[in-house]
Amino acid sequence: MENINWKEFGFGYTKTDYNVRCHYRDGKWGELEVSSSDQINVHIASTGLHYGQQAFEGLKAFKGPDGKVRVFRIDENGKRLQSSSHGIMMAEMPLDLFREAVIKAIKLNERWIPPYESGASLYIRPVLFGNGAQVGVKASEEYTFAVFVMPVGPYFKEGFKPTDYVIYREYDRAAPQGTGIYKVGGNYAASLRGGNRAHAEGFSAVLFLDAKEKKYIDECGPANFFGIKNNTYVTPKSNTILPSITNKSLCQIAEDLGMNVERRPITVDELADFSEAGACGTAAVISPIRKIVDADNNIDYKYGDEAGEISFKLYETLRGIQYGTVEDKHNWNTIIEF
Ligand code: PLP
Ligand code: COI
Repeated sequence: MENINWKEFGFGYTKTDYNVRCHYRDGKWGELEVSSSDQINVHIASTGLHYGQQAFEGLKAFKGPDGKVRVFRIDENGKRLQSSSHGIMMAEMPLDLFREAVIKAIKLNERWIPPYESGASLYIRPVLFGNGAQVGVKASEEYTFAVFVMPVGPYFKEGFKPTDYVIYREYDRAAPQGTGIYKVGGNYAASLRGGNRAHAEGFSAVLFLDAKEKKYIDECGPANFFGIKNNTYVTPKSNTILPSITNKSLCQIAEDLGMNVERRPITVDELADFSEAGACGTAAVISPIRKIVDADNNIDYKYGDEAGEISFKLYETLRGIQYGTVEDKHNWNTIIEF
């Protein structure tokens, strides 16, 4: 580990030493198991494989300048996995068990936690899927949970430098009464074709619109959208977007900084009224938006080549809390005891 170049990590897979698994069978969760293999046994007729009965999570652990390791809002991810499980009829994992599995995976891979100076963090990826034989379309009776970790750098390689996003009306990510609010793989499959085109055309991600009316802002690829107007943080309220834990935290931070916060539908036209805009999420942190191209209408909404002052302040505060250099007044961090 001595000669690892922490700065080299982008947002990609790295095999670390151990992962933690847990199986649900006969109506109950088993013991946590530790594995050093990054392969997993999947039943050939599993619902995870055939019917998309699958959900995942993403959270991060940070090593601070004080040497302490903090995991950010672990219970929120545990609750969201329960919500996703409920949404697609999977067995719900008790919060304590989720917490224990995540903490165990971090501890077992201590040497992979990036040092403070690197600016990198440890990304934690829990995943849960139906793993019992079920050929008829029906919920599985057996589930496999696994959690693995890896050091990561920025999701968008530009990091905190503003990048461009695009609106295409021919792709939808989630239907109004569908699974957009859950973190299920199917939503990501639905986003691939648009996302791929966006990348090929030089954009970071697609800014999806609501599927029904194509009138409101939905999500920024794998992140939530926010805009800044006067002293107000505005973010979409919709039943098709993933309730981002980063966004929820930024709403609180904005309030703490004396800003107003509005969670409400945002029309496409309103994009012209924001002085700053950004994408936010665990992987993306805050990725400031330089411009949004509405390809169908030939309109560019521009927010500047440099991150705005408020986005910067929000970013600094969030990162500070995560690395332990800004007071964690809402008790978001869990400190890992080694
Ligand atoms: N929206 C989507 C579609 C995502 O995949 C993510 C990533 O988890 C987010 C938003 C941001 O959520 P969070 O801040 O909880 O990571
Ligand atoms: C995250 O921000 O944790 C995500 O899950 C985004 C993406 C990599 C799916």
